[in-house]
Amino acid sequence: MNHIRLSGTGSALPARIVSNQELETFVDTSDTWIRERTGILQRHIAAEDETTSSLATRAGQAALIAAGLTPADIDLLIVATTTPDMVFPSTACIVQQALGMTGGIAFDLQAVCTGFVYGVATAERFMRAGGIRHALVIGAETFTRLLDWKDRSTCVLFGDGAGAVVLSMADQPGLLSSHLHADGNHVGTLCVPGAVRGGSITPAPFVHMDGQSVFKFAVRVMDEASREALAHNQLTVADVDWFIPHQANTRILGSTARKLGIDEQKVVVTVDRHGNTSAASIPLALDVAVRDGRVRRGALLLLAAVGGGFTWGSALIRY
Ligand code: ACO
Repeated sequence: MNHIRLSGTGSALPARIVSNQELETFVDTSDTWIRERTGILQRHIAAEDETTSSLATRAGQAALIAAGLTPADIDLLIVATTTPDMVFPSTACIVQQALGMTGGIAFDLQAVCTGFVYGVATAERFMRAGGIRHALVIGAETFTRLLDWKDRSTCVLFGDGAGAVVLSMADQPGLLSSHLHADGNHVGTLCVPGAVRGGSITPAPFVHMDGQSVFKFAVRVMDEASREALAHNQLTVADVDWFIPHQANTRILGSTARKLGIDEQKVVVTVDRHGNTSAASIPLALDVAVRDGRVRRGALLLLAAVGGGFTWGSALIRY
């Protein structure tokens, strides 16, 4: 069993849906502006008693059921998140407790919107090194808690949710390769510049973003990382059945698809209903496409993401 396959997917969304029309009632924005510039129609927002770990746990449970496994089967648990429940312990350990796991390896991973791809790549490297039969990789966020609801340039973009996959050692190839990058020269372009210091968060606990720089960078590097994954496996864009990029907004998705030369019909889009859920966006989109029957066994999936840092990367998976 030298290979790694994707043996189950799952996801979880808060029940509360906030439409663009509802945002119009308390932010100086319009449904038309949000639709035209981002393609977002609505987003899910966590209830007071919901946490990143509670969403992650629900997504993880669904992925375990889909894989036909129990929490005791999991040797490695990675939670990719920018919005952990607390400073420490890790959200992964909180999820472990909620799932009833008492062993294995568990840690959080911070690569913002690239977190899930970083998580899959990290699990892959652990698994190829030996000793891990099944890994649970979760991307989970309560990202809306980082938003300044008076800042219309950012607060309309994001949503909350979680998605998860189980990776299992297998006889047949599944996860073909993963490719990671980072360039810390862009730290200030997209950040929440806050740290806990002396009992308060300074200098600011809200998302700060240079939207146009993010847009250009995102399209360039998601294209590059996608090409890197295909070239590494001697495959072409024509071989891809489903492109599942980070769901930032539909204009970024469309521009990336055109640059890459992939048919837009092959792009899985959930940002219209979920908003940008950061590390949760790719596994949420993947789970939606698996459960609605688009993604079938044998399909070639190309994942690509970009996030604050900047971080970016890709993964190629034979489902
Ligand atoms: N509602 C109404 N008007 C708005 C809103 C809003 N929510 N937000 C900004 N505006 C106004 C601005 O004030 C500005 O008005 P002005 O011309 O009178 O000054 C006008 O709209 C244009 O603003 P721009 O910032 O130039 O708009 P732009 O066309 O760049 O679109 C957007 C902004 C949608 C954020 C775009 O830059 C973008 O998609 N960037 C990518 C950012 C992104 O997706 N970030 C997510 C996190 S990063 C990641 O996931 C990798």
